[in-house]
Amino acid sequence: MEDTSQAIHPDHSGPVIVQEAWLTSGKFVKLEQDESLYICRAEHANFAIVFLSDDCFRIQLFKGDKPDLSTTTAIVKEGYRPTKVQMEENAEEIIFRTASIILRMDKDSFTWTVLNHSGQVVARQSLISWNPRSATTAVYDMPAESHFYGLGEKASFLDKRGEHYTNWNTDVYAPHLPEIEALYQSVPFLIHMHSGLSYGIFVDNPGRTDFDMRSHQIAYTIGSATGNYDLYFIYGPDMKEVVARYTTITGKISLPPKWAIGYHQSRYSYETQEEVLQLARTFREKQIPVDVIYLDIHYMDEYRVFTFDPVRFPDPKGMIKELQEMGIRIVPIVDPGVKKDPKYKQYIEGVQNGYFSKKLEGEIFFGDVWPGASAFPDFTDDQTAEWWGEQHRFYTDLGIRGIWNDMNEPAVFNESKTMDLDVVHRNNGKPKTHEELHNLYGMLMSKATFEGMRKLSNDERPFVLTRAGYSGIQRYAAVWTGDNRSFWEHMAMAMPMVLNMGLSGIAFAGPDIGGFAHHTSDQLLVRWTQMGVFFPYTRNHSAIGTMRQEPWSFGEDAEKIIRKYIGLRYRWMPHMYNLFHETSKIGLPVMRPLLLEYQDDPNVTNLSDQFLLGSNVLIAPIYRPDTDHRAVYLPAGQWIDYWTGEQHEGGRHILAHAPLDTLPIYVKSGSFITEGPLKQYADEQLADLITFHLYGASSDRSFSADYTLYEDDGVTFAFERGQFSELAVKALGNEEGLTISYSYHKKGYQANRGSLQFALHNTEFEVSSIVGLDRLTQEDLDNGKLGWTLDEAKGIVLIQVAEPSEGGEITIRKA
Ligand code: GLC
Repeated sequence: MEDTSQAIHPDHSGPVIVQEAWLTSGKFVKLEQDESLYICRAEHANFAIVFLSDDCFRIQLFKGDKPDLSTTTAIVKEGYRPTKVQMEENAEEIIFRTASIILRMDKDSFTWTVLNHSGQVVARQSLISWNPRSATTAVYDMPAESHFYGLGEKASFLDKRGEHYTNWNTDVYAPHLPEIEALYQSVPFLIHMHSGLSYGIFVDNPGRTDFDMRSHQIAYTIGSATGNYDLYFIYGPDMKEVVARYTTITGKISLPPKWAIGYHQSRYSYETQEEVLQLARTFREKQIPVDVIYLDIHYMDEYRVFTFDPVRFPDPKGMIKELQEMGIRIVPIVDPGVKKDPKYKQYIEGVQNGYFSKKLEGEIFFGDVWPGASAFPDFTDDQTAEWWGEQHRFYTDLGIRGIWNDMNEPAVFNESKTMDLDVVHRNNGKPKTHEELHNLYGMLMSKATFEGMRKLSNDERPFVLTRAGYSGIQRYAAVWTGDNRSFWEHMAMAMPMVLNMGLSGIAFAGPDIGGFAHHTSDQLLVRWTQMGVFFPYTRNHSAIGTMRQEPWSFGEDAEKIIRKYIGLRYRWMPHMYNLFHETSKIGLPVMRPLLLEYQDDPNVTNLSDQFLLGSNVLIAPIYRPDTDHRAVYLPAGQWIDYWTGEQHEGGRHILAHAPLDTLPIYVKSGSFITEGPLKQYADEQLADLITFHLYGASSDRSFSADYTLYEDDGVTFAFERGQFSELAVKALGNEEGLTISYSYHKKGYQANRGSLQFALHNTEFEVSSIVGLDRLTQEDLDNGKLGWTLDEAKGIVLIQVAEPSEGGEITIRKA
């Protein structure tokens, strides 16, 4: 070495301190406008500004002549409608005005400030600078009372103040620790709440980004390592509006089939066909409802995706048929790594057609995963995605409608844990390196899967579950939070994690119930299941070599409680499905932090161990061993204990008593929830009996409560063609008592039932009569007679009326 010029290689000359040349835009040069596109040119860079509505704009830093206003897959076309706004320019500033905000750009410094019409400063970017390799950092004001939310799947508490996170989809084994900055999903979307208002910032950059709410007292920073600094600003002032608007631009969940929101059972792995069938029979014998059993990697032939192991699963068709008869579906795992094997169909096709991810020089990138050396489809290319989707015919031909995407960060068993950064993705003719597109890989895989399954599933709604994802993943897949452990701490952490995912558009999410790695216990499984059945996604999953954690693994006492709570999930199915439907329309999550409904209540800004189902059911799980009391915070209003009917004044903490068989649940007075019959699986052909439970009705003239029940066949896309119904129910108080009116706003679907039930809980007056209805016994009602009865012990008035063709009214008189 000494006798060549390598001796003076710069790397050998010891540490050289080079002041990195961080640039800023410099002074203003000129302003251009082309329809709804505004371009501010400065000495060293330019800003493109596009308003998408009165409360949302995009601002992109770009160098060169023209901005690249294409978007990543995160953004949906329907949500991207550029609009012109009022603009004025003076010597110091460029000012944009909409009905809700004013954006002022300072020409000297290119600082931008967003104000509302009360003159409040909503947000301020005080600096944006970049280095010669295009790593960019921007600095934003952080007033003293700042709180942060969103960012998708992150560990730690609800409020992200004081945290630092990286977005880089990573398969870290057993990763749910407070200090882990990068998990499987990346959602570079931050909600900032301060001074009684909220706004959101979404940096649409699928390379590495980082969010620092820790290092500076008066500012937070958002940086990106590569690519464009392409930012979407979303004003609230209510957080609900921020979340709704964010899902307008990145899309809402697609309405899942009902079976996908039932109870799911998984293990790594149910290893043979006989084991799967035995498991299914046990569920049915024990009358524990279940919709889905998962097939983890053991089902495959040496881990080749799109195959079954011929010894372990000799007759998948027969197995699936038998399961179908029990009403149980199979969801097999599909990882992106395709085994390098010249005799394997998908590998041959992938190589021959150039579908795999390659280096610039042309060689395929191989990484080790379960099957050993594997190639990875380049999902950034539509043709590859389509091919991948089409491969799922292997599953759909067997009647399978759900696919579980795992290891799609992509995970690789090497030091970097992923694909080489110098792989060049085809990206539909606009090649980019893996470094620039890394966080999109998993989402594009699930998109290809969802779209392929949709084409192949005879109008049935597919279900895709994914581990990795990026902003917008909610359109294609539900998300589970990866390899947690059977720790009480991980049970507790699942709450804020899934709550922030909900605030980040990912409304269909949940952890492995019982914990994946490590060993669960009877109490942990009971408590986790109680909590888990109120999460949007409800799956029990555990790792190879751990204690079994099927519902019956810990003896009869635990089994009984678990059966009760899984059953509760099924009884609440109409309400759950309603919430999922609402989410698919307006983007607000099924499971909500109290903060979303009570933004101004300082008690809930970081409340991480309670949550709301929709807007009016409060769940307060016990998440410590040997504990049967806990403090519960009830926000303003009256709250009724779901189990005992006890009424509590809100705006304060109470001490809940919850022995092992009790999950504390409170329903807000003045609201409806719906319950249906206990089914063993979502599509079980029982009558669709429905009870509208009304809590705390009063004869006060200001009393009013309403609910719209959405129904459809729960399986197909017929709802998109109008085959759904909406039954609107409204209760109004008056001097005489209460009137409940109900009518079909829309009746494109006929549920299978002859009557409707109403149950009045904690009514603030005694009921003496109901116009036109006889007082009967409970038995009469059970036998389908129309009328009403009073359950004296519980103080519940039960009313049964005929299923209306259009509508009807119930007039309830007080004594
Ligand atoms: C990964 C997944 C886990 C799965 C296992 C085997 O660890 O996160 O859920 O069971 O791989 O496929």
